[in-house]
Order: sequence, then structure tokens, then C-alpha cells
Amino acid sequence: MNTPDQRACFPELPSLPRDEDGPVFAEPWQAQAFALAVRLSAQGYFTWKEWAEALAAELAAAVELNEADDGSEYYFHWVAALEKLAAAKGLTAEPELYERKAAWADAYRHTPHGQPVQLRPGFHVSYAYRQSPLISVTRADGVSKQIRVQDGHLFVCNGCCCGRTEKGFPPLPLDEFKRQWKKRGIRRRFHLTVSGCLGPCTLANVVLLQFRGRSMWFHSINQVEDVDLIYNFVEQMLQGEMELDVPAELAGRLFQRYLGDTDED
Ligand code: FES
Repeated sequence: MNTPDQRACFPELPSLPRDEDGPVFAEPWQAQAFALAVRLSAQGYFTWKEWAEALAAELAAAVELNEADDGSEYYFHWVAALEKLAAAKGLTAEPELYERKAAWADAYRHTPHGQPVQLRPGFHVSYAYRQSPLISVTRADGVSKQIRVQDGHLFVCNGCCCGRTEKGFPPLPLDEFKRQWKKRGIRRRFHLTVSGCLGPCTLANVVLLQFRGRSMWFHSINQVEDVDLIYNFVEQMLQGEMELDVPAELAGRLFQRYLGDTDED
């Protein structure tokens, strides 16, 4: 069946967030992604059964990789399944998808707050598509498991001092770190960990950014705007597929933590 009776098809979709009236969406882009899958199926590009299987496979992979969650990331898995199925059906290709996402990320960064986000004329980024590879690792019990080899990792300290206003330290924009990590859709290439004390408490609030083996330590990451700067920097490195110099807005908060490192490294 290529024209799904949506309501009849919902039970085929595992874990679909819904209420008695149908699917529910936390953000407009989720409704758009939902509508896109329904529309493509209705137009015969794939059957609803193929779609349900693709989505189930993506959700199962997330469980295997321990990337399942409380449902808040359901539509990230939905989009990943849609991208794979669309590529498998020849509707698009992975490099095109990747470059299109880069263009929207660029537009997002360059649009003043409150303005509609629009693609910038002339923006183009061209680089080989690269998805975080999966590798098999054998545990001590002999069982092999797959893990993603990622580009980097952000540790946000939420220990004994960072964010502890009762001790006189600045508040920590912890929710903003989590929100942007999800919103930017980078979790398959870049991990976020909220950690215990990282050590240099007197510099609160401290974050450790690791990118392709390099460690960059920052202090005084106190504001929502600082979180923007950190993630913009991360996304620029992800897009460029390389480690970049720390931007000027963050350079004053970079500090040396390890012997052998310098601020300039
Ligand atoms: S609590 Fe953040 S560095 Fe110690």
C-alpha cells in the first residue's frame, strides 16, 4: 500500500509519540519530518511497510549503541531513517544531504536572533561525506559490541564547585548545553558528558573540549551565549573535518591543564 491511511498505519510505527488525536510533536521540524515520510510514501517512493521497517531498524540500532532515550530524540532517529531510505531509493545522495545540512547550519549561525532562518546565497561547502564509522570491540566477556568512533567530546563540569551558586560560583547553563547538543543534531559525531569535578575548581565554570585527540580547556563558561560559542566552534570543526584555532571570543578563556600543552597548541 503506497497511500497510507495514516491513522491505520500508526500502530506499525514503533514508539511513535502520540495522544488520542494522533502523533504529537515537540517542535515544528518534527511535524515536517513526519509529513515528509508520509508524503513520500503516498507518492509511491517507498511503501509504508518499507518505512516502518527502516524506522524500526534505526531505533533498534540506537538501542544497540545505547543511544536510545526517553523519546525526546525519536525524531532524530526518524530523520536518520528517512535519509537512509531516501538514499537507498535514489531520491538523494549522502553527500548532497550532508552539504545541505551544512548550508542550513551556516544559515542558522548567521541569522540574527528572532529573524527567519534563510539559506545564504552563494554559500557552498564541498567535502567528502563522512559518517562516524562503527567498529567492533570485544569486551572482557568475549562479546563483541559496536561503538561509534567520534570526532570529539565535550565534558561539562557539574561537580562540587562549577555551577554551585551557594558557594559563590556563577550559575552553569547546563540545560543549554544539553538542549543545543540535541538541537544541533551532532550527537552521532560528538558526545556530551556532564561530569563530576574536573579539577580546577577555582576557574568555574570549566568545560573540556576534545577534538580528534586534542584537549582544549575553558573556564568561565557562564552564559547561554558562551554555550553558543562553544558549539559554533565545534560545528565549524565538524564541517571542516579538522581541528581549528580557538575563536577570538573564547581565546581569553582557554587555559593550560596538562604538562606539554600550551595555550597556543
Ligand atoms: S567542580 Fe568543576 S572543576 Fe571542580
